[in-house]
Amino acid sequence: MPAIERPELLDLPARITSERIMLRPYRAGDGAAIFKAVDLDRQDLKRWVDWVDEYPEVVDSERYARRMHAKWLARESLVYGIWALDESELYGGISIHSFDWKVPMGEIGYFLHKEARGRGIATEALKLLTGMAMQVAGLNRLWATCDAANEASWRLLERVGYKREGHLRSERRTSHGNLRDTFVYAMLAREWPAERTPLA
Ligand SMILES: CC(C)(COP(=O)(O)OP(=O)(O)OC[C@H]1O[C@@H](n2cnc3c(N)ncnc32)[C@H](O)[C@@H]1OP(=O)(O)O)[C@@H](O)C(=O)NCCC(=O)NCCS
Repeated sequence: MPAIERPELLDLPARITSERIMLRPYRAGDGAAIFKAVDLDRQDLKRWVDWVDEYPEVVDSERYARRMHAKWLARESLVYGIWALDESELYGGISIHSFDWKVPMGEIGYFLHKEARGRGIATEALKLLTGMAMQVAGLNRLWATCDAANEASWRLLERVGYKREGHLRSERRTSHGNLRDTFVYAMLAREWPAERTPLA
């Protein structure tokens, strides 16, 4: 895959669907659904991500939804809500951010609210987003980091076929003040044959 010179001109699907879920970029009006997903169990989420306290009110989530909509259009960050097919529920979010368009590559992030876990929804979302990134956007590499203690996260990455590339020891301090080890995972375009994600 060559470098991407003008990412703003990339044509990307605004909806990606599988049998059970639909990914679409956040937009104005999504704030209440995002707030509900985050607010369901803040303490649990805060163990693994550091942005929870940035959204104390629905209005903060609404501002986030609108900012992410703008960033999606500019191809600065591609943040998708993970929705039930009929949009009756937001299960969580998944994103590609921190792009380096010369490689081209980006970093993956995700979360599910607690009641949506344990059903393979994140697996489905990560497969869809990886397929879109490799087959449509033309990225060469997607990477992710996670706390070595976040077993659900690194098991998800391994289930989808991401390879562990590194184990960084005492690399970061958690929001609880403890030093943590970090795993680095990545997927390369050549490891992701097109037939793996027949995009709808
Ligand atoms: C990371 C996170 C998204 C993983 O969620 P998850 O529910 O474990 O992942 P999935 O939705 O893919 O579900 C997988 C589980 O469902 C089960 N499952 C049921 N049906 C399934 C299916 N059709 N396909 C795959 N797995 C299925 C799997 O066996 C697995 O269960 P197990 O963990 O007991 O083995 C979630 O733990 C989370 O949001 N954590 C907090 C935020 C976070 O850590 N973000 C990442 C920071 S690096």
